[in-house]
Amino acid sequence: MIKFWNDYPAFIEELNEVKSIIKQNIKSRESILEESISPMLENGGKMLRPAFLILASRFGECDLDKIHNIAAVIEMLHMATLIHDDIIDDAEIRRGCDTVQFKHGKDYAVYVGDFLFCQCFNMLAKYDYHMENLRDISKALTKICMGEITQYNLRYGKNASLRNYIRIISGKTAALFAISFYVGAHEANCHESITNSLGKIGYNAGMAFQIIDDILDFNGNTKKLGKSALRDLQKGYYTLPLIYALQNDKDGKLKKLLDSQCLTELEIDEILLLVNKYDGINKAKAVADRYTEKAINRIEKLPDCEAKRIIKASVSKLLNREY
Ligand code: IPE
Ligand code: IPE
Ligand code: MG
Ligand code: MG
Repeated sequence: MIKFWNDYPAFIEELNEVKSIIKQNIKSRESILEESISPMLENGGKMLRPAFLILASRFGECDLDKIHNIAAVIEMLHMATLIHDDIIDDAEIRRGCDTVQFKHGKDYAVYVGDFLFCQCFNMLAKYDYHMENLRDISKALTKICMGEITQYNLRYGKNASLRNYIRIISGKTAALFAISFYVGAHEANCHESITNSLGKIGYNAGMAFQIIDDILDFNGNTKKLGKSALRDLQKGYYTLPLIYALQNDKDGKLKKLLDSQCLTELEIDEILLLVNKYDGINKAKAVADRYTEKAINRIEKLPDCEAKRIIKASVSKLLNREY
């Protein structure tokens, strides 16, 4: 799915370099580690976070090896969170293949995620990165963890509100997007105002990204997504389309359906119909539009260069994606 960047063949070369750094760093004497991570790496994700890190670094100057190494770290951290997220969600498919937890069991999946985290520390020690970047990456990881825990605590609609939803996704997703942009710019010694602005672009793009991911969970196609749709509903996560639909659920029909802990296919179909009918999808999309617009407005103010054009095009593309 590195195909996301198909319009930029030279850039794909760079992302392949990041992939090969990851490949080198998942080798160990326990073959299960490489064996379970490789399919996920080879089948590929969109590589958004390392891509944005590299693009942000183009606004300054830096040793490319150093940038590629930290881009690999960011992707590995992301992969670790996905492997652990799939345990919690009992997910069976990720990036079009069996999840680690499904194929090798939850015990191994915990270890595999932990191994990726540990390798990241080794890799960060390899170069002389700015201390603030290391500190901010740790902070972002704490935010991801908090976001995931809050989401878990509020399952099945406990305190479902726009405010809580925004808090959850700022932590579990936007924090890593923000740090990817920020770290790339900071390592390239960009001017402080550009670095801060790129961090904010990442935050807003990340917010829009997660809202679209949540919409795709309702109306996406498992094959295109490379992961199961309708998982959030089944796990009791009340995401933005549902939160908005519930505001229009005057007769309590939707709420009543949601009260069932184990949803049948028929009930899920009915919920989907109501979420659409009560404008949940459209309203959520409008919020994603607004976050994207905020990101684009800031992108427009960046100095003109090729990286700026690629960032702008890809942030817009994320809004209309199917995977
Ligand atoms: C999935 O992220 C997790 C979310 C934050 C929604 P991506 O959609 O970027 O996953 P890959 O890396 O492309 O598989
Ligand atoms: C996951 O969000 C965010 C993290 C991995 C921290 P989702 O739960 O929406 O991601 P998917 O849909 O499983 O990819
Ligand atoms: Mg998940
Ligand atoms: Mg999701």
